[in-house]
Amino acid sequence: MLTNKTIVLGITGGIAAYKAVDIASKLTQAGAKVEVVMTESATRFITPLTLRAITGRPVVTSMWEPAGEFRVEHIALAEAADIIAIAPATANIIARLAAGISDDILSCTVLASKAPVLVAPAMHTAMFLNPVTQENLARLKARGFIIVDPASGKLASGGQGVGRLPDTEIIIAAIEKTLTRSSDLDGRHIVVTAGGTREPIDPVRYVGNRSSGKMGYALAEAARDRGATVVLITASPHPGPSGVEVVTVETATQMQSAVAKATVSADALIMAAAVADYRPKNVSPTKIKKQAPGLTLELVRNPDILAEAMGSFIKVGFAAESENLLENARQKLEMKQLDIIVANDITETGSGFAVETNRVTLIDKQGNVTELPLMTKREVADKILDRVGELLTKR
Ligand code: PMT
Repeated sequence: MLTNKTIVLGITGGIAAYKAVDIASKLTQAGAKVEVVMTESATRFITPLTLRAITGRPVVTSMWEPAGEFRVEHIALAEAADIIAIAPATANIIARLAAGISDDILSCTVLASKAPVLVAPAMHTAMFLNPVTQENLARLKARGFIIVDPASGKLASGGQGVGRLPDTEIIIAAIEKTLTRSSDLDGRHIVVTAGGTREPIDPVRYVGNRSSGKMGYALAEAARDRGATVVLITASPHPGPSGVEVVTVETATQMQSAVAKATVSADALIMAAAVADYRPKNVSPTKIKKQAPGLTLELVRNPDILAEAMGSFIKVGFAAESENLLENARQKLEMKQLDIIVANDITETGSGFAVETNRVTLIDKQGNVTELPLMTKREVADKILDRVGELLTKR
């Protein structure tokens, strides 16, 4: 699994830096090409020479001293990496990565790379639990970084608590899992819908909903990062992620045409969009003036895009529910003939529309129910794609 993989191992300046020697050693023994990048503070805890001897490769410690076969170090490393693993990661590097600051070789490499980035925080408990560090970690998670939670136990500072670098085996297992994930959708074609459709009333107003597009965008990014070719059909005004074909639509009927076109050769359709079930029957070409005593809008049914989508691709729907979550979701799974439905309780704090996190339950057509805890939308996206990947390999 690790043979011939290029792993950029970032080491930052904490006491746990000495444990990175063991990580580098085990990765090298497993056949990986380990390119060590050390921050200046890391070199105060262990010497580059140690890592060089372990990996048999030059160790990079500065932007300004090209070493080995690479010419522009951070770009060459960024492009060569199958994964970047930062262990240990201090509160400082976590904050710099969250803010996009790139003032040393490690942060520049991360910023320039499209490879998955795994971060293993290790620091004193109070620093780890500080809301700033937690916010920074949440930002990284939302962007798709993989965070390996620190272990609890005796700390170098003397106390007990959370903040220890987990055992080498745990970090290597996380690297292996990420590497498997980062290519499991290679060659697959995935269509994702996002955002809330807008059904015009007149040139000014529309019937709409609260969807921001975050859930669908997270799915598109995650599918892209796992090697899929992605078409994102979005009714959200936000620009789509890079590396993804973005089709912008406004109404349900436009979304239906775009879905029909994009799914011709698709392996999976995942509909996170909140599609209006009704649209105004007549759209006024001019702005409707105030009327007394009021205004009555006649609405007609929109097509059900998912139910009407034709093809042999995997179909995943969402069910945004405010009551009878599982019962309603199961009905939609059956009625729309889906492979998986993502039951989404929109009444819970931190879940549903326009927030960074979501709590969902996955139900498949065999009746298996997987309840997931509150997690970032990116993590939810990866859980959904794990299931889509499994279904695709079974075909
Ligand atoms: O965009 P965010 O702010 O991140 O919010 C995320 C979300 C809450 C919108 C998302 O997680 C979610 O739950 N999306 C589905 C919302 C919805 O419209 O659910 P529904 O129960 O009305 O529809 C069921 C399924 O059928 C959905 O997959 C929907 O895309 C699809 N549908 C619905 C109506 C319709 N006319 N055609 C459809 O294809």
